[in-house]
Amino acid sequence: MDIKSKIRVIEDFPEKGISFKDITTLIKDGEAFQEVVNRIVDDLKAREVDYIAGPEARGFLLGAAVAYALGIGFIPIRKPGKLPAETVKHEYELEYGNNTLEIHFDAIEKGKKVAIVDDLLATGGTVLSAVKLIESIGGEVVALEFLIELEFLKGRDKLSNYHTNSLVKYD
Ligand code: PRP
Repeated sequence: MDIKSKIRVIEDFPEKGISFKDITTLIKDGEAFQEVVNRIVDDLKAREVDYIAGPEARGFLLGAAVAYALGIGFIPIRKPGKLPAETVKHEYELEYGNNTLEIHFDAIEKGKKVAIVDDLLATGGTVLSAVKLIESIGGEVVALEFLIELEFLKGRDKLSNYHTNSLVKYD
């Protein structure tokens, strides 16, 4: 299946010069959604992953589906003030603007293997922040999985210590 053809591109959103990759058109297509989840699952099968973690909000859409398909748990990484128990925080820069992410302090038992799933690798700031949060509470990050990679932003260069897989690339 040509997954890329299911992604809608919106120019100048959320601000001028940004070519936004809209995955709502992909995930409303049941076959395409399933294909994306299956491809990520295939890449993770041999890695003995204990948990999937996903950053809010679009990371939840894919991450939870991948976790369900693998029969393992999902750990949300959220924007500030959303998680109710004790958290650790990390601040980072986005392609446009700043963001802070949080994870529950007790979300991952020491040494458990975690794969991060998100819709998009752009600058890599979000996923690196997620990696730092997971490692800071004792998890081991074993894979980074993305639906889309914006190759021209070279986010992958920051991730050379980690297995990094993306299904659709834009350059
Ligand atoms: C988007 C996307 C990734 C991140 C990628 O999330 O879903 O998480 O940006 O960018 P980066 O590689 O430059 O960090 P966004 O923060 O827009 O949040 P959303 O999913 O809630 O819309």
